[in-house]
Amino acid sequence: MAVFLGIDIGTSGTKTLAMQEDGTILASATVEYPLSSPKPGWSEQNPEDWWQASIQTVRRVMKSAKLRGADIAGIGLSGQMHGSVFLDKAGKVIRPALLWNDQRTADECHEIESMAGGRTRLIQLVANPALTGFTAPKILWLRRREKKNFDRTVKILLPKDYVRYRMTGEFATEVSDASGTLLLDVVGRCWSTELLEKLQLDRSLLPDVHESEDVTGRLTASIAAEMGLLPGTPVVGGGGDQAASAIGNGIVRSGVVSATMGTSGVVFAHSDEVQVDPAGRLHTFCHAVRGKWHVMGCVLSAGGSLQWFRNQLCQSEVALAKKQKIDPYEIITQSASEAPAGSEGLFFLPYLTGERTPHADPFARACWIGLSLRHGRNHMARAVMEGATFAMRDSLEIIRSMQIPVKEIRVSGGGARSQFWRQLQADIYGQPVCTINAEEGPAYGAALLAAAGTGSYQDVTEACRATISVVTKTPVRAAAAKTYNAAFPVYQKLYLSLRDDFAAIQELISKRQ
Ligand code: XUL
Repeated sequence: MAVFLGIDIGTSGTKTLAMQEDGTILASATVEYPLSSPKPGWSEQNPEDWWQASIQTVRRVMKSAKLRGADIAGIGLSGQMHGSVFLDKAGKVIRPALLWNDQRTADECHEIESMAGGRTRLIQLVANPALTGFTAPKILWLRRREKKNFDRTVKILLPKDYVRYRMTGEFATEVSDASGTLLLDVVGRCWSTELLEKLQLDRSLLPDVHESEDVTGRLTASIAAEMGLLPGTPVVGGGGDQAASAIGNGIVRSGVVSATMGTSGVVFAHSDEVQVDPAGRLHTFCHAVRGKWHVMGCVLSAGGSLQWFRNQLCQSEVALAKKQKIDPYEIITQSASEAPAGSEGLFFLPYLTGERTPHADPFARACWIGLSLRHGRNHMARAVMEGATFAMRDSLEIIRSMQIPVKEIRVSGGGARSQFWRQLQADIYGQPVCTINAEEGPAYGAALLAAAGTGSYQDVTEACRATISVVTKTPVRAAAAKTYNAAFPVYQKLYLSLRDDFAAIQELISKRQ
């Protein structure tokens, strides 16, 4: 049976898996790498780390599944979106890549809006407003702040497309990831020549755009040898990690929505037509399904909030977990479950790294609000989980308000691993949540795209139908849902009450720098 590789260039590491044509996973491997933050709000990585991790994970997977190069019928790529890899004319990386969670480009976002002829015109051109995480503001930042580096730049690639370039020698991307650059005409599924002209950026800086299932190139002989694969192995477009993850969750038809809580949290809905939130709070991107789109809301620190809580405030739980050889999250979740729904009036705003949906505010900050003598660490843990889930509900409510059907919610990522957090999601969303048979996320979606693009399936929708099924369903508990319905408007109002204070805090910090 044919085997496909899915390679996901994540933020904490690269994960590669080998998937049989019928969807069975044969092996997977992950190699981690660091992230650097040379200044507050900056977030960078070294593309060479992604490349080395790709080679190592492919080799490990081939070895542990005892595969030969000839077994691999195709490769799919996925990766963290929006990052910018700047290449010189020799194809060498000019400076570390700026990542999706980098917040340095607030000025450039304003500049883009004004050069585009206003926010409304910008949304007409590329279906989205300018957000600090997106790629175009990063390019303008380079042009303004590191002119010498900009002048040397001949090509700008997204993270997974840099790996593609190293594998195949081709400068190529695909529509789902390209949508997050803010330079794609999302309706026409091609680069927006009008916006490029307005921003005075040359089209030649960008790679060719394909549909996600299309073969974009083939492995070169030297790289094939290095990876233990055959020269000429096809590499399909793949997808930005969110679109690829949606494929891996079977979000390929209207009505099925995913809520994925990794470091960031994403609520993702398939859409047969282009649907744009007029207020620009949700992203409207091309889907990795040919000729389809999706809307999504992105919470920057969802699982990331609990991770922060664990790292900063749960040393004793971490030590105990080590002794008992269990995951510290098991202990933290157990303690959270001892507090009642609603955490007795304690709220947590999860804006540790600013927020994207719905506030688009790089200066928003996290906080607990409502602490009293009654509250202990179990309330604080529960409030963190509830706050991250309320933030996801913010996106879900916008999707519902756009009349996009939400018939089934599929949860995945860290937030779906424990029954407790699944229940909390069902109660806060006010709808049952499901899990599916595959838990591998974007790398699995990338492998399915490879299977579809090289002919094992008619298309990726058929590939999903053949491989993905629902395995659990968590119903809503009416009493908890009632508590959360009452708490949600209070949660929403807290940001509005604090917005100006967050801006004032930012002023204080920037004065001190
Ligand atoms: C999506 C986004 C993140 C990154 C990193 O818009 O910014 O999900 O892709 O995973």
